[in-house]
Amino acid sequence: MKSWGMVLSAYISVILFTLVFCTVQPPNINPSILSQSKSLGECQACKSFIESFKAGLERTSRGKYEGGDAAWEEEKLKKSYKRSEMRLVDIQEGICKESKHSVQCYHVAEKAEELIEEWWAQDANEFDDLYAYICIDKLQLCCPKHHFGKNCIPCPGDHDNLCSGNGKCRGDGTRKGNGTCLCDPGYLGENCDQCAIGYYLSYKDKNKMLCSKCHRSCMGGCRDGTAKDCVACRTGYIFDSEEGCIDVNECDDINRCKAAEFCENTLGSYACVPCDKSCNGCHGDGPDLCRKCAKGYSKKGELCIADRQDEDSVEAMTTTRNEEL
Ligand SMILES: *[C@@H]1O[C@H](CO)[C@@H](O)[C@H](O)[C@H]1NC(C)=O
Repeated sequence: MKSWGMVLSAYISVILFTLVFCTVQPPNINPSILSQSKSLGECQACKSFIESFKAGLERTSRGKYEGGDAAWEEEKLKKSYKRSEMRLVDIQEGICKESKHSVQCYHVAEKAEELIEEWWAQDANEFDDLYAYICIDKLQLCCPKHHFGKNCIPCPGDHDNLCSGNGKCRGDGTRKGNGTCLCDPGYLGENCDQCAIGYYLSYKDKNKMLCSKCHRSCMGGCRDGTAKDCVACRTGYIFDSEEGCIDVNECDDINRCKAAEFCENTLGSYACVPCDKSCNGCHGDGPDLCRKCAKGYSKKGELCIADRQDEDSVEAMTTTRNEEL
């Protein structure tokens, strides 16, 4: 009887399992994830594979002790596990799983599989530079630091101060790019040693030059960082002989906004904001800043208060009184 019950429950489980899992739709892969992973360069993908492999080495570094009761037995098992086929399998089981770009990581993992097996069998030191071996030498997806392009040509210029320290060599460390400088924002020139428009030279010595953003009131460049150093003033600012470019208060013009709005000055501009509903014209936000009260509202101290609210409460009081009588 008992076994029949078990068979029956197993049968039911199978049916349930089928119902639950066979109706599940295949997962929809979000296209943005695909394009995101595509945008990762091949060298970056190789890097993420190496990182994942190293994490696997770390994860398995304490070995497996199953069956080793005595300390000496444990030590022996640990030694044999260290370069074993079993450990490699353990590492490869987890490969790319934690990677942010797992699709591309797997892609490299496939290409590198044989290379990794050879390397593992050679009893190579696991602290050797696996990245250089796999990604640079064997798969040829990356270049050494400060080298670029198919043949890993050195980036032009002083490698201690590439692109004046204000940019990077295009393709640096990868098999891509043309080695020209890609300058950081604010810098221009073949060697990123000029300030872009809207920036000024704020520091320079023989190793380093820095460009900083002009004051926000400037247009078209500046000599230094204050509002007095602008070449010209931005719209919404006006030149003052003492202070330089200063904000125009557009709200000084009382007709700037509509009657049911008040004007709010901002740096370089202004905004028209609707008055509180209790106001008929206002000089700021809230029922306490009305010029006059709107229809149906009357002044109570500083505030415009709805009349009807008063009537309602008066009415309510009257009704209760009537009922009491
Ligand atoms: C190098 O590559 C950049 C970006 O792809 C491009 O704008 C530039 O013209 C190239 N320069 C040379 C010298 O090929």
